[in-house]
Amino acid sequence: MKIIKNLKLLIEMFNIINGFKKHYVFGFILTVISSASNIIIPFIVLKIFDVAITNMNIYELVYYTAMIILVTIIGAVASMLFQYINSRMNRNFVMKLRMDCLKHINKLSGDYYTNYNSGDLYTILFSDIENIQTVLTNSFFSFLSNLVTAVGLLIFLVWLQADLLLILFSSQVILFIVQKKFNNEIQITSENTRDAMGTLNSSAQEMITNLFSFIENGLKGFFFKNYFKLEDNYAKNSIHTSFILAFNRAVLNFLNSLTVATILGYGGYKVIAGSLSLGGLVSFNLYSQRFIGPITQLAQYNTEIVTSMISWKRIKGLLDKPVSVKSGNEEIDIFGDIEFQNVKFSYDKENKVFDNLNLKLEKGKVHAIVGPSGVGKTTLIHLLLRLWDVNSGNIYLKGHDIKKINIKNLRDQISLVSQNIFLLNDNIYNNIVLDNKEISKEKLDEVLRQADIYDFINSLPDKLNTMIGENGIKVSGGEKQRISIARALLKNSSILIFDEATSMLDNETEETIISQLLSVFKNKTIILIAHRLSTVKNADIIYVLREGKVIERGNHKELIEEEGFYYNLCNV
Ligand SMILES: Nc1ncnc2c1ncn2[C@@H]1O[C@H](COP(=O)(O)OP(=O)(O)OP(=O)(O)O)[C@@H](O)[C@H]1O
Ligand SMILES: [Mg+2]
Repeated sequence: MKIIKNLKLLIEMFNIINGFKKHYVFGFILTVISSASNIIIPFIVLKIFDVAITNMNIYELVYYTAMIILVTIIGAVASMLFQYINSRMNRNFVMKLRMDCLKHINKLSGDYYTNYNSGDLYTILFSDIENIQTVLTNSFFSFLSNLVTAVGLLIFLVWLQADLLLILFSSQVILFIVQKKFNNEIQITSENTRDAMGTLNSSAQEMITNLFSFIENGLKGFFFKNYFKLEDNYAKNSIHTSFILAFNRAVLNFLNSLTVATILGYGGYKVIAGSLSLGGLVSFNLYSQRFIGPITQLAQYNTEIVTSMISWKRIKGLLDKPVSVKSGNEEIDIFGDIEFQNVKFSYDKENKVFDNLNLKLEKGKVHAIVGPSGVGKTTLIHLLLRLWDVNSGNIYLKGHDIKKINIKNLRDQISLVSQNIFLLNDNIYNNIVLDNKEISKEKLDEVLRQADIYDFINSLPDKLNTMIGENGIKVSGGEKQRISIARALLKNSSILIFDEATSMLDNETEETIISQLLSVFKNKTIILIAHRLSTVKNADIIYVLREGKVIERGNHKELIEEEGFYYNLCNV
């Protein structure tokens, strides 16, 4: 069963070759030519001794010597061309696999983005893919070259001494059985080492990306305690793997020496008994040693494949992750009313976030969504961006079911300033424009003023060229938010969402930005999510969420008059 399962996996792995047929055909021809040249040369040497020198024929001598030079040149050219094709193929190979993985990751849902392990993903993209590439290109062709060499030498060996060949074969069968036993152990220990490396990478990466926070919060000790445990675990596993591999090599070498000793012993006995010439034995031994080299390497290729299958399993695990949020086909202008109808949703099937949520966001109006922390305000945005799908109920955009709309088309038309601001370790300009490089200076200045960050940027010595550090460590929390607001405004979408986008700003700055937004973007649908009620009181419609439902709806004045939950929030 296991073999069939592995065989299926192996065939799948080798199927990748299909995309590179032309390269493989050329590689195949060139490898055969260069290996054949290696086998032919000793044969010509034999001819020089047995024919040219024995006959004392100078013409034959010149002829065979010229043949050696010609075959060498052909072999060298073939091998050079092969190296060129192989290195090109290697790069294309890695690029294709990485793109496949990245494209697939892009199609996955919020479930994946919130549960993945960054260290593991790193290992897949940078180490596993390279492993597969090595096995399917470099090692594959070296396998081919060894195979051609082994078959060629086999023909010579049969021709020289068939019964000695039997000894040689028996030893190779034993070798094969022993190697099979090792492969199992190698697979287990390599898998453990790789897993340990994944966890270690994650932990180191966590520390590296949050270096400042770790130091600031005095968490160095906490980190190192955990880190050393992981480092120790990795070291143990990796030492064990190295030991198994070394032991494997030692056993293989021993068996090879044993083979040579047996051939010389039994062959020597035949020479003494007079049934074999000395020259026959010497040349048989010479050829059989050349034969064992490629055979051993063929067996090692088996080990490489076993190890690479672990890499392939992990790559496949990623590529086969089901796309739970499927994109629709409709490419439409989504600017219209947004309706949540009887929406039920939970992240983990147990803790319900929405239990029958009904809410309408009207085209071109300003909405505010308020409610206690953890009530589901950000979740509402996740559903609107289709990072997750509702469990039941529907979301309609301008009357179209959200599931029928193309996801890219949907996300392109929504600007979001989220609670988690992402910043590049680059200058302010690149952080704001991202790939929107065509932007005019006037438009950029206008947006910077709307986000109330124009004066700050111009007070800096390097202005827009100022580097902001990793995760924007060199700018304040409020400045980060304003950079992120400017970026969202530049996207110029018809739907603008601000999820706690001004929470780190002082009241005055916040008021300036909000009132700017409300006066400039009169014809856009705006969704403001905020705890601070000063932010939301100018909204046309305020929705108050509580326990998975909308419990109050109206403008500030109406809700205050209602003296309900909102009224209490305001008074607190
Ligand atoms: N990816 C996730 N997986 C599981 N549970 C989640 C996930 N994201 C959020 N939750 C849970 O869902 C609930 C709603 O979270 P959400 O982030 O929408 O709250 P919120 O109203 O935006 O809160 P806040 O005002 O603090 O930002 C919370 O109980 C939260 O713990
Ligand atoms: Mg939130």
